[in-house]
Amino acid sequence: MCAVKARIAKTASGIGISVTAHRFMPSGPLTGRIRVPGDKSISHRSLMFGALAVGKTTIRGLLEGEDVLATGRALAQMGAKISKEADGSYSVNGVGVGTLLQPQGALDMGNSGTSTRLLMGLLASHAITAAFTGDASLSKRPMSRVIDPLSLMGAAFTPSPGGTLPLVMEGIQPGVPITYRLPVASAQVKSAILLAALNTPGTTTVIEPVPTRDHTERMLHGFGVDVQVDVIDGERHISITGPADLTPCDIEVPGDPSSAAFFAVAASIVPDSDLVIENVGLNPTRDGIFRVLKQMGASIQYLEEREVGGEPVADLRVRHAPLQGIEVDPEIAPSMIDEFPVLFVAASMATGATVTSGLEELRVKESDRLSAMASALTQAGAKINERADGLLIHGSGGKPLAGGGPVTTHLDHRIAMSMAVAGLASKAGVEVDSTEPIATSFPNFSDLLDEAAS
Ligand code: S3P
Repeated sequence: MCAVKARIAKTASGIGISVTAHRFMPSGPLTGRIRVPGDKSISHRSLMFGALAVGKTTIRGLLEGEDVLATGRALAQMGAKISKEADGSYSVNGVGVGTLLQPQGALDMGNSGTSTRLLMGLLASHAITAAFTGDASLSKRPMSRVIDPLSLMGAAFTPSPGGTLPLVMEGIQPGVPITYRLPVASAQVKSAILLAALNTPGTTTVIEPVPTRDHTERMLHGFGVDVQVDVIDGERHISITGPADLTPCDIEVPGDPSSAAFFAVAASIVPDSDLVIENVGLNPTRDGIFRVLKQMGASIQYLEEREVGGEPVADLRVRHAPLQGIEVDPEIAPSMIDEFPVLFVAASMATGATVTSGLEELRVKESDRLSAMASALTQAGAKINERADGLLIHGSGGKPLAGGGPVTTHLDHRIAMSMAVAGLASKAGVEVDSTEPIATSFPNFSDLLDEAAS
């Protein structure tokens, strides 16, 4: 067993043996070259759009995380033929817009908000009745944000109290086109409406006051759909005229910047690290974490900048560097919405205070990420003040955190991985109560950690 594997040791809980608790021990420098798995958002959309195109779509670099597999299983329940080829690529033989089949049995969305909200949109304009179920974390998350616009388009919903899963949706075909201004900055809500628009006669427009990740727009364009984007008074107006036909595509999925972020922070805070993370997607609606880390003094160089699958991509060289606390501009939040947990770890090791605000949305992710990270980092020895819309973090000035735990991850993959990174730069390691959720987005996280830190 290599030295680093020993870092991830199974530990005993107070009431017997817990097989999923792990202590992430301090590590040596992260070095060499690693490649993170495919982008989760692009992977979900590749399968969905492939299922709507008549003919064969080929996907290279698909993320084989549980969230994406849940999307694949649901699409297969509705008639798409999805198979893994000998070369590791996936083939999707789609059924076409408007011709998805009535699923037999509930659609189990597991932990995945993206699968749920995007598929609700996709099915809302089909003559399909579907039951959506999910795990304990997903069953607490708000679905009214998609139920409201999709109801305006004619779909009917029977949610659980509070507008949550499990819920039953009756789609409508043909539905009614709408013009809808997003009340929250959410790519999932935007995408749900645009997917419903594909099979809705007439023009549906989503108005986005604050730009969010634009993979749906870019990819639908690649599948031959005319997606109109106009910027009017600083707001993006995104329109689709349905019914639309999708042409099958060859897709190459770039590496996930959200996954790369864990390694970018780890290499920044572990002394003597010098790590290259290959093939990282740098779509400007997703790269906020790297911009903020650089603002804090991180050494992140973009090498071999290029385009992969219509997305800007580079290899990232990240070297250990002293970080300074900063006030994070809330306007950057949508472009790094999933990266705040790991940014909080970086901030805990910086010199001076880091202030974040405007982050109410973090309270309705896979867990309440403000409260989960405030208590996990406090347990690990960091100095944190939790506020209604963000965290105030007093950095350690580069000194390792004491470590400790077990910290509670609340079925949230990003809390588990962020606290694993905190463990690498701690004195005693950080025990994480459960590493199982990591498989939802980054199944080989621990292997890559072994590789980089060995
Ligand atoms: C996603 C959008 C974001 C993000 C999620 C993936 C997507 O959610 O947090 O992990 O693929 O559209 P919101 O739309 O709720 O911000």
